[in-house]
Amino acid sequence: MAEQFDVAVIGAGAAGMMCAAVAGQRGKRVVLIDHAEKLAEKIRISGGGRCNFTNLQATPANFLSQNPHFCKSALSRYTPQDFLSLLKRHHIPYHEKHKGQLFCDRSAEDIITMLKAECDLGNVSWRMPCKVHGIARAEQGFTIDTGAGLVHADSVVIATGGLSIPKIGATDFAYRIATQFGLKMVETRPALVPLTFDPASWQPFVELAGIALEVDVSTGVKKQRMDFREDLLFTHRGLSGPAILQISSFWQPGTALSLNFLPQTDLGTTLIEGKSSLRKNLGNVLAQLLPARLSAGWLASNGFDSEAKLADMPDKQLRRLGDSLNAWTVTPSGSEGYRKAEVTVGGVDTRELSQQSMMATRVPGLHFIGEAVDVTGWLGGYNFQWAWASGFAAGSAV
Ligand code: FDA
Repeated sequence: MAEQFDVAVIGAGAAGMMCAAVAGQRGKRVVLIDHAEKLAEKIRISGGGRCNFTNLQATPANFLSQNPHFCKSALSRYTPQDFLSLLKRHHIPYHEKHKGQLFCDRSAEDIITMLKAECDLGNVSWRMPCKVHGIARAEQGFTIDTGAGLVHADSVVIATGGLSIPKIGATDFAYRIATQFGLKMVETRPALVPLTFDPASWQPFVELAGIALEVDVSTGVKKQRMDFREDLLFTHRGLSGPAILQISSFWQPGTALSLNFLPQTDLGTTLIEGKSSLRKNLGNVLAQLLPARLSAGWLASNGFDSEAKLADMPDKQLRRLGDSLNAWTVTPSGSEGYRKAEVTVGGVDTRELSQQSMMATRVPGLHFIGEAVDVTGWLGGYNFQWAWASGFAAGSAV
């Protein structure tokens, strides 16, 4: 005999716990099933252990999707202020770090404890760790075959997330279920991920590993062009840091990135103007504008003598050096992949889902929420805001 529930939520991460709590508090009998040993590992490791749980500036424009209007409804019905009210009820201290990004003062553990307590308030039943072998249509609702026996539910919510960080339990479960029920998928790829270069072409830059600085980075042309001003980090294999994670979501393999290491300075003009002082040498001038190791390494790898006097150098040469730092064009060979990606772009095609309830319009009772669907936020708390908002939408509708 299958155990009976109104709602089965599969995946007890950010979106799944929010959905289960909301549905449970509406009086629904909810079971939350997850295969992991440890609850909500992704929340725990997020934001460097402090969880960047939302962004005060979140708007639909901060999300990528093949269907950009889809996220509007859920985001407008559960806003960052709604999540902050929840935090206040649980006396969780937080602070704003940068560009509207909100982090826990203490630890991401506060968010996990809060969501667990909200599930308890809704009398949610837990099956964890518990494998899910399959889901089948029943006469009414669905039968779920789990490691802890059969479960019957009128509605099933799939909240098993994307493919990033398989080491902590990410699987393609949501995509397999979507395909099983005949739903379309948008091709997936790793995003918010460091970019890599082929080792031979990266050799001159290996010694810059560890250098961080604020840059402008852009990719694409005309309407498709995206740019960000954020910190960049040189690594042994390529480029990372918030600037690169942001642009990685928009970067298409085979295309170039343009980087401006001195967003506030027209370097060519500054160097040419510096010629009026006879004693100024190239190395010293550049080291005042850039991290010393970057300026020394850059001059050496571009064949410039750091001891050269600006006054002795032709304008054309100074302009060429200026352009190389104001508009460095490089083509990554790939990315660090799902192993290091914070999120997955693509997923269950939102054109298959209702924007009010997140239910598959062709499969009544089957819902998809969170990162499993083709809605991906920028870096900065947007992905959790989508998890809360889509979880709330489904939890209010089931
Ligand atoms: P989530 O991944 O949270 O949960 C999925 C759950 O499903 C997991 O508990 C998993 O065990 C379970 N599951 C998977 N397959 C299953 C199966 N076959 N059977 C049963 N259970 C299964 N975002 C942000 O806004 N701010 C931030 O600071 C960060 N920081 C960050 C750091 C790092 C290192 C990563 C990897 C990611 C982030 N993110 C982030 C992204 C954010 O963590 C992510 O978008 C949300 O956790 C997605 O929430 P979901 O609930 O959709 O999936």
